[in-house]
Amino acid sequence: MRAHEAGVLHAEGYGGPPLYLPYPSDVMELLPQLWASSVTRDGEGRLTVGGVDVRTLAERYGTAAYVIDEDDFRMRARAFRDGFAAAFATVGGADVYYAGKAFLCTAVARWVDEEGLHLDVCSGGELAVARRAGFPGERIGFHGNNKTVAELEAALEYGVGRIVLDSFDEIARVCDVASRLGVRAPVMVRVTVGVEAHTHEYIATGHEDQKFGFSLGGGLAVEAVRRVLDRRDVLDLRGLHSHIGSQIFDTAGFEAAARRLVGLHAEVAREHGLSLPEIDLGGGYGIAYTSQHTPLSTGVLAEELADIVERELKALGDGDNTVVPRVSVEPGRAIVGPTTFTLYEVGTVKDVLLDDGHMRKYVSVDGGMSDNARPALYEADYSCTLASRASDAGPALARVVGRHCESGDIVVLDEYLPADVRPGDLVAVPGTGAYCRSLSSQYNHTPRPPVVAVRGGESRVIVRRETIDDLLALDVADA
Ligand code: LLP
Repeated sequence: MRAHEAGVLHAEGYGGPPLYLPYPSDVMELLPQLWASSVTRDGEGRLTVGGVDVRTLAERYGTAAYVIDEDDFRMRARAFRDGFAAAFATVGGADVYYAGKAFLCTAVARWVDEEGLHLDVCSGGELAVARRAGFPGERIGFHGNNKTVAELEAALEYGVGRIVLDSFDEIARVCDVASRLGVRAPVMVRVTVGVEAHTHEYIATGHEDQKFGFSLGGGLAVEAVRRVLDRRDVLDLRGLHSHIGSQIFDTAGFEAAARRLVGLHAEVAREHGLSLPEIDLGGGYGIAYTSQHTPLSTGVLAEELADIVERELKALGDGDNTVVPRVSVEPGRAIVGPTTFTLYEVGTVKDVLLDDGHMRKYVSVDGGMSDNARPALYEADYSCTLASRASDAGPALARVVGRHCESGDIVVLDEYLPADVRPGDLVAVPGTGAYCRSLSSQYNHTPRPPVVAVRGGESRVIVRRETIDDLLALDVADA
């Protein structure tokens, strides 16, 4: 495809469907890997989730709405907990931290607690949600590259299990706060391991030239460990942490990261005569948004990571002196992403003739980049399906777009929909559980959609829809 100054969508030769999107033999077929496990179609062609059909959900809660399958969330959380517990049983054990940044609300924090996972929060706001849910402090990890003094105080007062240190300034800041509060802060050192993850540049975090962590190559990680150990009076160094990026499909990056982390672990043992009790490999496990993605199963992922850690410990550890560290991981997307779809209503349909003779249906729905910024931010691909009825019409190449005042406001760049798709139809976009509600905005003064949880034939709101009054409430009318 030739480049075009206005962007790839304008390049000559563009028009046809992408390679991952073959012409479907059945345009109503659901690819199971994209959907929460309870999603099916009923006899009238309507999508149902947790035993509730989408027409009922749309009537009860309106559209656009995020619909989350609670059992599917719990099942994926358990799969991580049990898969990692089993795989690491002989390698020091493992803990799974659900990364709340993918999506967090009080109900979800309770599910995570009930399923026995730990919780990673990365702001005072996420910590407040965890507190409201009564999430046990000792099972919370606190992240962020610029935590405020107030956030650090709140975290230490709540008794979080670990604060992941990200800079020398922060080491000093945590020392101050901990001494003032008269506590010893449990901390980890975040290490930039210099691994280039194969993902979008904006969501890769392990390479050197970016804002997170202490660089290993530059010797800063070793120095951070020294400084933390110099302040044992107020800091309790639990271990080393790395997170190499997000939406990653193979374990090669984790292997390289684990090798470097374990190497540092051994170096600390040699220099300080101290075997740190924990190693965290971060999150980043990819999910399927379209047929182009093939994620590893959780069990296989856990076994591969356990093999890697065991191998690296054997190769680099200093034998008798090294106590095998407990490993933790921080999946967000892989737990919550596939549990949720966004339900939209179609408002308008336009047939547009492309330069190359292809026809494209532009299907506008009642949401868009305010409830899913990922296509605009990361050129993320999604898929969708006609959700509210059966159709015998043939497949038509469609682009689902939002209702915002930007041409980049794309929900699904390429998908086949039945050619008779029309206003009033419901369309469902799977895989929107992670980084959609949490990255959502009120762009164009658009109230954000609710999150509706479905389970066992029942539905309930776990995050309510914003209203125009919510929007106006922040706007000081008589200023
Ligand atoms: N741990 C740390 C330290 C992280 O920074 C992140 C994600 C995770 C765990 C969880 O990563 P996950 O398993 O969900 O991939 N907004 C972007 C993703 C940003 C990821 C930020 N950090 C997106 O929508 O793709």
